[in-house]
Amino acid sequence: MPELEKEIRKRRTFAIISHPDAGKTTLTEKFLLYGGQINLAGSVKGKATARHAVSDWMDIEKERGISVTSSVLQFEYADCCINILDTPGHQDFSEDTYRTLMAADSAVMVIDGAKGVEPQTRKLFKVCGRRGIPIFTFINKMDRDARDTFELVDEIEKELGIATCPINWPIGSGHEFQGVYDRNTGEIVSFTGTLKGTKEGQEIRISLSDEEASLKALGEDARETLVSEIELLDGASEPFDQDAVDHGKLSPVFFGSALTNFGVEIFLNYFLQMTSSPLPRESDERIIDPIKDGFSAFVFKIQANMNKAHRDRIAFMRICSGRFSAGMDVFHVQGNKNVRLMQPQQMMADDRHVVDEAYAGDIIGVFDPGIYAIGDTICMPGQKFRFAGIPSFAPEHFARVRQVDTMKRKQFVKGITQIAQEGAIQIFQEDNYGMEEIIVGVVGVLQFEVLQYRLKNEYSVEILLEQLPYEHIRWIRDRDTDMDKIRGTSDMKKVRDLKGRPLLLFVNAWSIGMTLDRNEGLELDEFSDN
Ligand code: G4P
Repeated sequence: MPELEKEIRKRRTFAIISHPDAGKTTLTEKFLLYGGQINLAGSVKGKATARHAVSDWMDIEKERGISVTSSVLQFEYADCCINILDTPGHQDFSEDTYRTLMAADSAVMVIDGAKGVEPQTRKLFKVCGRRGIPIFTFINKMDRDARDTFELVDEIEKELGIATCPINWPIGSGHEFQGVYDRNTGEIVSFTGTLKGTKEGQEIRISLSDEEASLKALGEDARETLVSEIELLDGASEPFDQDAVDHGKLSPVFFGSALTNFGVEIFLNYFLQMTSSPLPRESDERIIDPIKDGFSAFVFKIQANMNKAHRDRIAFMRICSGRFSAGMDVFHVQGNKNVRLMQPQQMMADDRHVVDEAYAGDIIGVFDPGIYAIGDTICMPGQKFRFAGIPSFAPEHFARVRQVDTMKRKQFVKGITQIAQEGAIQIFQEDNYGMEEIIVGVVGVLQFEVLQYRLKNEYSVEILLEQLPYEHIRWIRDRDTDMDKIRGTSDMKKVRDLKGRPLLLFVNAWSIGMTLDRNEGLELDEFSDN
């Protein structure tokens, strides 16, 4: 196999999604442990330290001990080159969290075994569902009392609307947790047999059909329960179907305990077999093949101010095809210009380093002198195709922004426009008001604080934020609709986005229905595909 193909085929690029506290950080650390990036899982103390080590780009992150921005970790394991796209797991997540999923080939959904499906899991899952990417479920914290296993699996199917196929099955939970049963091999993998918290622990595997040995390992009651549960499961669950997994229609389910390091390696090994290397991507001209086509990438995130002294921006690109090598000339389609990607960087476990080469599936961050926008395509000179744009996700919180010192008008407009171009916030103007008053929409309320902080620190502009009651936003499909003619409810607001597209803000879902009823032929969209 040629070198290029070998490199691309070993790439696995995925995101880990979860509701806060389900164990995403812990699981990521354990993956790094297996990748040899850290010697003992315990050596990364607490999540605050771990996250700072990875991305202490903004003071606000340090102050709060959370990761506002997503980062990428790359490491090698079992002949695979793994790229983990870290999505902020805090309650106040942002549009970046969604966008990161656009750059991933699959997602691992971590669920707390005691809690089941939680609100943020649901939201993130919806975005994965729209793209149809493979979703793998890791039900965590089995060393604590968990809910009934059948009930948990049932909840995932019902709440998220996806079929599941448990690849392994827990043997008890909490104090009774004894390990998992590997349905593929028919073996019991024992919990007590592994040395907790290290990767040195020897996995002890006993065949369930070896009655004597399995009885000795589990005890009579636990063995009996397991045998009847497996019988039930074999009769009731969907058979494993790789094609359904590839299309995001069937989620393989795993059980384990990230904290005690149990079930992580089994999961990782199956996962790496079941998830694919980078796949072809659609562009407006043709399907781009990761191996046969030359270098191409798209920008999915722009991060400002990583170095305060230089006020630099970094554009994060997902490479979709071919090989990138430092210093090569490429074509920036939206800018219609040949460019050189400057200071290309990749993230290793705990630092950024300059890359000489990167392949389809990898994420690189390049210096951005202010020319890139989210969704832009970069390809080889002579090519001109564009990858599908990244949708604008519907903000859920809105505020009116006013500047305190009106003399600083220019800085204010510049600052807020730049921050909006980076995609951290969306800005809207009320029809006929221009930039006098701006309505800002965000996915997570923390972004309001980030906006206030950045305008003050980077542009010396103080602002006042007045939160507005709107919770729903709808783009009007026909851009030429005469806004004055729309008859809505009294609490509805008509605005335009930065691109001049008309849209409506609503306080509740009832008003949306009412407005649709009153305006025949009006079509509204929840997402805007750029
Ligand atoms: P997150 O990134 O999804 O927000 O979750 P994180 O990994 O930070 O885990 C949240 C809490 O749950 C942490 O405890 C962590 O130690 C614990 N945890 C994670 N996996 C397991 C597991 O398999 N079993 C058990 N029993 N606990 C688990 P914390 O006390 O909030 O934080 P820390 O001080 O331990 O970092």
